[in-house]
Amino acid sequence: MADNPSKSISQNTNTHRVILFPLPFQGHMNPMIQLANILHSRGFTISILHHQYNSPDPSKYPHFSFHLIPGGLSEDQLDKDEPLSAILLINTDCIKPTRDCLGKLLSTHDDTACIIMDANMFSSQAVVEGLGIPRLVLRTSSVCSFLAFAILPVLRENGFYSGDLDSRGEDPVLELPPLRVKDVQAIHVQSLDFTLKIISNILEGAKTASGLIFNTIKDLEEPYLADFHEPFRVPTFLIGPFHKFFSAASSSFLTQDRSSVSWLDTQKPGSVLYVSFGSAATIDGESLREMTRGLASSMQPFLWVVRPGLVQGSEWLESLPNEFMEVVSQRGYIVKWAPQQEVLSHPAVGGFWTHSGWNSILESVCEGVPMICSSFFGDQKVNSRYVTDAWKLGIKLEHGFEREEIESAIRKIMLDKEGQEIRERALCLKEKIDVSLKTDGSSSQSLNALSDLISSFKSSGA
Ligand code: UDX
Repeated sequence: MADNPSKSISQNTNTHRVILFPLPFQGHMNPMIQLANILHSRGFTISILHHQYNSPDPSKYPHFSFHLIPGGLSEDQLDKDEPLSAILLINTDCIKPTRDCLGKLLSTHDDTACIIMDANMFSSQAVVEGLGIPRLVLRTSSVCSFLAFAILPVLRENGFYSGDLDSRGEDPVLELPPLRVKDVQAIHVQSLDFTLKIISNILEGAKTASGLIFNTIKDLEEPYLADFHEPFRVPTFLIGPFHKFFSAASSSFLTQDRSSVSWLDTQKPGSVLYVSFGSAATIDGESLREMTRGLASSMQPFLWVVRPGLVQGSEWLESLPNEFMEVVSQRGYIVKWAPQQEVLSHPAVGGFWTHSGWNSILESVCEGVPMICSSFFGDQKVNSRYVTDAWKLGIKLEHGFEREEIESAIRKIMLDKEGQEIRERALCLKEKIDVSLKTDGSSSQSLNALSDLISSFKSSGA
């Protein structure tokens, strides 16, 4: 940590209550809990409104109060391969219990200044407005991916979706460079109408909020803010990377296997490729085979997070070929879940093959680790395009899972001049991030502005 930001952020004292309402998925829960900790360190009293499904563990946060929305989702109801359907279900299933729970909370806590909701919890927008409390929105992914969402209706009007998109996959999206047609196409896993319905709800919720918070870095995303402010004319706060203020370890749903760090301790500096596809992506048997062959033929040591359920139809490692398990015993290590931030900051790690989830990207750039980018759904294709084509912090696997491309990318990142140049750019960005976290840096300043806005709600009687 550059300037011990947790020290620099604890100067203000604000006594008002902030209610935070996360979406119950790992990549959304982590940043919301981190934001809660950041605001708490600024003196705000914190209440967390949450679902039963993937509920945070209150014993880890005795300084927060927790309020359960009764009923709601179960694991069986959520189709992990259909993230948009899961988001819709969470939104439609919980409107009444959310209204009841929030109403009760507000009636017993008249110190509440505002609620901060995940951008994807759009159905609660009307609930909050009905209760007359200011609403801020946390978008847990990049500004760029939000812009890509915002452009979908425009693309439809411009005739982008007519004809055969597959044949135009590599063409540029003129309305939003550096995106290619295939990057945008991948946002809608279901029908275009269904995707646009969900996305327009998310966008509307953001446009009508009292403020929009991003877990991002000005040094990366400032160039896109002018385009962003055109559709989103609300105060916007870029105060990331949250995990540099508070680690995500405490909000991990799975146990982080610390033996991965002990194994890294035995490896040479910069020699290990860390491989993890986050909390929700899945791969089929064919992709798994190509992955194992690419990893084997690259001849590089690797630490691989094989999350239970990562491989479709498998509990854990039973689909891995026997010959690959021999490679693992020679120069690999596999865990179900790792302490990712610690892994990425370990001197033995020289590269990160990621699914391009936004938290993973932030955690990688903060440690100056170059990336190999795969992508699965939602924001990931957009994120990965910016990482590789705009910021030049990684190499994108353009053809999914093909062993030759995988081997070549691993060797480039870990051994070649190209990888070294990416590493130098990443380290340069890491230094800028450290500066942005100092007391007068851009993230800290933005956090000051957010604190002031929240306090003003109460003093203006909003
Ligand atoms: C999802 C989407 O995939 C992502 O694109 C979107 O931006 C947020 O929601 P997820 O798949 O969970 O996120 O990925 P990511 O955003 O990278 O978050 C994963 C989190 O889990 C990170 O904070 C990471 O540190 C943590 N993690 C991951 C671990 O603690 N251990 C691991 O082994 C792997």
